[in-house]
Amino acid sequence: MKDLRQSIHGEWGSRWAFILAATGSAVGLGNIWRFPYVVGEYGGGAFILIYLACILAIGIPVMMAEILIGRRGRQSPINTMRALPAEFGAGRWWQILGWLGVIAGFLVLSFYSVVAGWSLAYVPYTAAGTFTGTETSQVEAIFNDLLASPWQMLFWHTVFMGATAFIVLRGVQNGLERAVRLLMPILFLLLLVMVGYGMGAGAFVEAMDFMFSPDFSAIGGDAVLVAMGQAFFTLSLGLGAIMAYGSYLSKRSSIPGNSGLIAGADTVIALLAGLAIFPIVLAAGLDPDSGPGLVFVTLSYGFGQMPLGALFGTLFFLLLSFAALTSAISIMEPATAYLVETRGWKRPKAAAAVAAAAWLVGIGSLLAFNVWAGFTIAGLNFQELAEYLSTSVMLPLGGLLMALFAGWVLPRSVTTEELALPDWVYRGWLVLVRFVVPAAILVVFANSLGLLG
Ligand code: PFF
Ligand code: NA
Repeated sequence: MKDLRQSIHGEWGSRWAFILAATGSAVGLGNIWRFPYVVGEYGGGAFILIYLACILAIGIPVMMAEILIGRRGRQSPINTMRALPAEFGAGRWWQILGWLGVIAGFLVLSFYSVVAGWSLAYVPYTAAGTFTGTETSQVEAIFNDLLASPWQMLFWHTVFMGATAFIVLRGVQNGLERAVRLLMPILFLLLLVMVGYGMGAGAFVEAMDFMFSPDFSAIGGDAVLVAMGQAFFTLSLGLGAIMAYGSYLSKRSSIPGNSGLIAGADTVIALLAGLAIFPIVLAAGLDPDSGPGLVFVTLSYGFGQMPLGALFGTLFFLLLSFAALTSAISIMEPATAYLVETRGWKRPKAAAAVAAAAWLVGIGSLLAFNVWAGFTIAGLNFQELAEYLSTSVMLPLGGLLMALFAGWVLPRSVTTEELALPDWVYRGWLVLVRFVVPAAILVVFANSLGLLG
């Protein structure tokens, strides 16, 4: 029997609208800011290998599960995780999955918007030629000055959340789709320019060696947890963003095909970002292990050295901010759709409320870089705690629950119909979501808690 229910929020205009929106969600700061900095922190090649294994064996099957749950439920993640368990005789506690995602969303947004604010701040910096011909120490000083200035960061954080809210409340589907279609390829080309620059002027061979020759002796339990968390974060999984987008997906669109395309595009962009950044890092004697500032310092130094750097740099940080915007929109979607459904609010009001709440939580993250730097729990400040809890704990936990729900609660008749795969591929997916994904996530959790010796 065909299920012809539609979401009250409408449906994507075409298969491409979903792919573009979901790719817009996936490709963002996770690829260009976070991927290189965690690779640098956790030592390079071995970390990347574990990350790629997580994308393939955990990320893609969970993405299929998340989209199909969304399309079957046709509501916001919270209400989908109420309706589907009721329909298939499972417990009411499954709705925790929806709430977990909303909470994780606020935590992610709190630092996401601050970092996107850095990217916005770098647009006028690069345009003014601030970095042209400067030494690395001076480029680092400019970044540290930004971190030390809560008012400047508050300004850019506010501009970013304001722009995000504006787009969501205008109900953008069309404009956004066209913009993603145009701007993503330009961002891709700019990354290629930077990789080309690194090949000519940077330490490209050393960078290839750093990224692709694995040294597993440097890998501890925490590195594996961070690699797995990064796989979830970069693919926008475990939070309900992709579930919400899936709930607007037409029945005729292929879930496995879409998942493969989105994950493929995301992985290419992350690897290119690494290939753009590490040749400059290694040639300029910068420290790969320098944390969240790595990309801002490295790339602005690179733009300062290369021909037409001010132009490329301005364009780059503008496009990076836009890529962050299309991701932030998706992070807001579960909470926004929930308010529309349960409170009967109009979309603009719901979006404004979610953005305002996220803006407030974000102030905690931006103060963690200066005024509140001394307030720590287990050695982590507010921003580090928000980042660690959301990406390394809550997203994998959300993904674990989604895999279990799709694998064990939804009847096979439903999942076969949704996925429409050849039988042997379907069986492979089922084995992954039933056994492999849950076991892998639990083992990684246990390992990083030190429970496995
Ligand atoms: N995938 C986004 C990135 O890589 O920047 C971040 C993100 C978006 C995480 C949406 C989680 C999410 F639900
Ligand atoms: Na990503």
